[in-house]
Amino acid sequence: MSSHPKNVPITILRGVPEEETYEETFDVPYREGMSVLDAVVWIRTNVDSSIAFRYSCVNANACKECMVAVDGKTEYACTARLSSDGNTVGPLTNKVLIRDLVTDIVPPKENLRTILAERGEG
Ligand code: FES
Repeated sequence: MSSHPKNVPITILRGVPEEETYEETFDVPYREGMSVLDAVVWIRTNVDSSIAFRYSCVNANACKECMVAVDGKTEYACTARLSSDGNTVGPLTNKVLIRDLVTDIVPPKENLRTILAERGEG
């Protein structure tokens, strides 16, 4: 019977556009099947509430707001399984960085289309 959960290292790439980004590593208690998003939420709840990331639906893979780079690969944090050896999580590199894991993921055209549609001009 295992009593203590194993901790896994999660490295998060942090920063804002004007400054150099830096890595911060957190030990997160590992549960079988947990997602990368679960780990980041755990860090924000228990260790550092200043980490910026975005999500809305948790698991439904519907909002698409949780897209990040997991070990350099674009993934939905809510569906990406955390590796039992830990992962590096960073912002998408092909999008404009806002802060930490948050990037401007909605293409400007789509914003415009939504606005026009709301006005009945779309
Ligand atoms: S949180 Fe909505 S798709 Fe991941």
